[in-house]
Amino acid sequence: MSTTTAVGGSERLARVLPDALAALHEVLQRHRVTEEEWYAVLRFLTEVGRADEFILLSDVTQTSVLVDAMSHAVDDGATASDVEGPLYREDPPWREAPVRIYEDYDGMGDAEVLFVRGTVTSTSGAPLPGAVIDIWQTGPTGGYDLWDERQPDYNFRGRFGVSETGAYEFQTMVPKPYTVPTEGPVGRYLEAVGQHPWRPAHIHFKVTAEGHEPLVTQVFFPGDPYLENDTIGAVKEALVRPLEQHDGSERGLDAPFSTCDFDIRLRTAAGA
Ligand code: BEZ
Ligand code: FE
Repeated sequence: MSTTTAVGGSERLARVLPDALAALHEVLQRHRVTEEEWYAVLRFLTEVGRADEFILLSDVTQTSVLVDAMSHAVDDGATASDVEGPLYREDPPWREAPVRIYEDYDGMGDAEVLFVRGTVTSTSGAPLPGAVIDIWQTGPTGGYDLWDERQPDYNFRGRFGVSETGAYEFQTMVPKPYTVPTEGPVGRYLEAVGQHPWRPAHIHFKVTAEGHEPLVTQVFFPGDPYLENDTIGAVKEALVRPLEQHDGSERGLDAPFSTCDFDIRLRTAAGA
């Protein structure tokens, strides 16, 4: 429902919008919402817009998860999708093999190195050597580069290719649970409705390959205290992947490390 088509008269908009307004009016009537309350709502939404927090609001009200579920409902063997969230950054650095998506920084502590690996194929199992993977995640101190002044810009972000067989591997660190941004109007909303702001630790993936539908997803890890209680409700069982512990000597590291296997299967694009 783009606004440009709406200006010209979008059939879809003309069908959906009256229902949305009827649902809103019904709620206002049922709760006998006062003028004062309604203007408070409008002021809140204005603030959400000014703070650029509409995606965050959609996420914490679990509206993004609902739209994701409706948009990718087919069970055809493709890897499950998940919501993108508001913290993706365009044009992350291209990382050459062997891919490492971070630089060490002061205060990162004795975090655990993690190698994530797998293959990118179509749902038929054919390797997709032209695939591009784009990763973003928090550092081991629980923050994104955008919030954590100790980290270099674009730390724990990166884009890279796969091998001729579709195989990929990248070096990162085991992420930790963290809170969504709480200092703006959405933070006040969470407090007002008594909803905690925590997300389980996760790694975001955006994967593209010619002739295939792009995939946006996240990977989670077993045992996380927020797996059952993600504030945006985005955990899917199929995306919870075990971490396997290894002795550092296996890779010439001076501390134990983990691996996580995550094969990615992309759906053929319509008309491809
Ligand atoms: C995230 O995982 O990056 C995220 C998702 C929704 C809201 C805030 C952050
Ligand atoms: Fe995230």
